[in-house]
Amino acid sequence: MITVSAPGKLMLLGEHAVVYGYPCLVTAVDKRLYVEAEIIDANEDDIITPQVKESRFVLETLSYFKEKFNIRSSIRIKTRGDFSHQVGLGSSSAVTVATFEALNILFNLSLSKKEIFDMSYHVTLLIQGVGSGFDVAVATTGGTLCYVKGGVEMETLSLSNLPLIVGYSGVKADTPLYIRKVSEAFKQRKNEMTTLFESISVLVKKAKEFLISENFKEAGALFTENHTILQKLGVSTPILDTMVAASLEAGAWGAKLSGAGGGDCMIALVDNEKKQTVENAIRKVGGEIIEVKVNTSGVTQEK
Ligand code: PMV
Repeated sequence: MITVSAPGKLMLLGEHAVVYGYPCLVTAVDKRLYVEAEIIDANEDDIITPQVKESRFVLETLSYFKEKFNIRSSIRIKTRGDFSHQVGLGSSSAVTVATFEALNILFNLSLSKKEIFDMSYHVTLLIQGVGSGFDVAVATTGGTLCYVKGGVEMETLSLSNLPLIVGYSGVKADTPLYIRKVSEAFKQRKNEMTTLFESISVLVKKAKEFLISENFKEAGALFTENHTILQKLGVSTPILDTMVAASLEAGAWGAKLSGAGGGDCMIALVDNEKKQTVENAIRKVGGEIIEVKVNTSGVTQEK
């Protein structure tokens, strides 16, 4: 039996704009999704997923893989995770990448990371219809990436420190709905939306350099600026805005929503000395602190 794990993710900067071809920054987190795969003596595959949502991704991955590589054996796949899909840390992309890698190892195919990414992105698009693939990319490579849609660019940033706090809003975000919302607005107000995406792209590039040089004060200001643009895109919510404002008041370098908007998480860049104060401020306005380590490893076989 093969066991493989892949990490969840956090969008740092550039959400939505990345769907339109602009770069984003994304980091892998230490909440992982585990996939066990083995060949079984049975007439049918056996898929065991505690989270119903994951079974579609596993089923689609398995059928795509079996057809592409002409596999006839029956396979048992079992998943388990360090996190629920509720908080929006990317369990669907992680389970897809981990399943492909487990099958890759099980059948000795020596597929490259790029091939795993391409196939996983294809499968997630089949199911979700929309998306840049940023989550699939970082589940594959791990670390922190500057990413352009479709894997056109996947540059690993060399970071030794990324002092982030994550606050969950208590609301599950509907990512495809918010992607569609932005796409409707884009159709109606193309020039205005393009200007907003371009400003996001400028700050993503600047933030990348500030994060590498550990100039967190400047990077933080860009996080907050990105949040203001996301408000203009119409994807923030009162609870996310309140959590962001509370973090800034408590002394964070910067804060923003993370992901599609409409719920899920916000992130704040915070000096270690102020961590407790900012976390308390987030809790006080109704947010839940999610303890995560960032910049962690990509898809990997477990011992
Ligand atoms: O809601 P999340 O954390 O899956 O992030 C979505 C980010 C978008 O840019 C809105 C969509 C995408 O696929 O890039």
